[in-house]
Amino acid sequence: MASGGVSLADRLQEIRDEALADIAAAGDAEQLEVARVRWLGRSGELSDAMSGMRDLAPADRPATGRLANEVKRALEAAYEGREAELGADDEADASSRDLTLPGRRAWTGGAHPVTQVVDEICEIFGELGFSRAAGPEIETDWYNFTALGIPLDHPAADEHDTFWLDDHVVLRTHTSPVQARVMQEHEPPIRVVVPGLCYRRDPWDASHAPAFEQIEGLAVDEGIDFVEFRAAIDFFVRRFFGSGVRTRFRASYFPFTEPSAEVDVTCFLCDGAGCSACKRTGWIEIMGSGMVDPIVFEECGLDPERYTGYAFGMGPARIAMLRYRIPDIRLLYEGDVGFLEQFAR
Ligand code: PHE
Repeated sequence: MASGGVSLADRLQEIRDEALADIAAAGDAEQLEVARVRWLGRSGELSDAMSGMRDLAPADRPATGRLANEVKRALEAAYEGREAELGADDEADASSRDLTLPGRRAWTGGAHPVTQVVDEICEIFGELGFSRAAGPEIETDWYNFTALGIPLDHPAADEHDTFWLDDHVVLRTHTSPVQARVMQEHEPPIRVVVPGLCYRRDPWDASHAPAFEQIEGLAVDEGIDFVEFRAAIDFFVRRFFGSGVRTRFRASYFPFTEPSAEVDVTCFLCDGAGCSACKRTGWIEIMGSGMVDPIVFEECGLDPERYTGYAFGMGPARIAMLRYRIPDIRLLYEGDVGFLEQFAR
C-alpha cells in the first residue's frame, strides 16, 4: 500500500458502503443526481480515490483495479435501481392526480377601489385640462385655515376636530390647503385636481374614518364664471355617473368660496326614484364647491380684480361606497384580499 492511513482498498470499501446508503436515501430525482455527481461524477469520490492507483506497487494494482471496477458497477446498479424506483413513484403519483382540475390562476394585483375612483375622476378632469397635483399631509395652520379665510377660532380649527401636532402644525383636515400652495407657485391659468389623505378627529365607525381620501379641484383664470363652473361639473357628472344623471347646486357656505354650493346628483342607484342609498330623496350629495373667495386670492398673492375661479372637494371613498354598494367604510381600510379582489380588474 501507499503511505500511511487508509489503504486504497479500504477506501474503496468505504466509498461503496457510504455511496450505497446515500443512493438508497435519495428521495427524488434531484437528490439522486446530487448523489450520482458526488460518488460517480468525473471529479467524484470514486474517481478521486482512483487517482491513488499510480502510487500503488505494480503488484497490487490488478487486485485493486478489480475491486474498483466492482465498486463502480455496484454503485451504477444501485443508481439505476433507485432511478427506476423513483420513476415508478412518479407514475403512481400521476395516476392519482386529477388532471381535469382547473389550473391555479397566477396572482395578479389590482388597484384599491378608492384608488380606481380617484384615478377615474382625475382622468375625466384631465380631459378638461386639469393636471394632477399633490401637497403635504402635515400642514401649517396658515395653509389649512388662514389662507382659506378660516379663522383659528372657527369650529373646524377646534382641537376636537383637528389633529394638532404642535401650536401651528396640523394633519390637514381637507385638501383645500393645496389650493393655496398651487396659487403661490403657479401663475394662472390654473387647473388642478389634488387627491390625497385628510385627517379629522372623527369616530371610527361604518361611515366615518379619521383618515380619509379627498379630491380637491381648482380652476383659476381671467373670466371664469359660474356658468363655466357648472358646465365643468356637469361634464364630470355625466362622464363619471352616466349620461342620464342630472346635477343640482344647493346654496351652501364655505369660508373660502363665495357663492358656495353643495353639488347633488340624481341617485344613480334608483334613477331618482328614491332608495336607501339616497335616503328616499332621489339625490346624492357628491361635493362641496363654489367660486373662489377673493380673500383667498389676496392671501395667496393673486389679484382678485383680475382673476376668478372655482373650487370643489369630494370624498372618493363615499363615492366608491355608493357605486359598489359597500356598506361599511372600514372595509376599505382592512386590506382583506377576499373583499378587495372583487374590485381587481
Ligand atoms: N374643503 C371642503 C371640505 O372638506 C370642501 C370644499 C372644497 C368646499 C373646495 C368648497 C371648495 O369640506
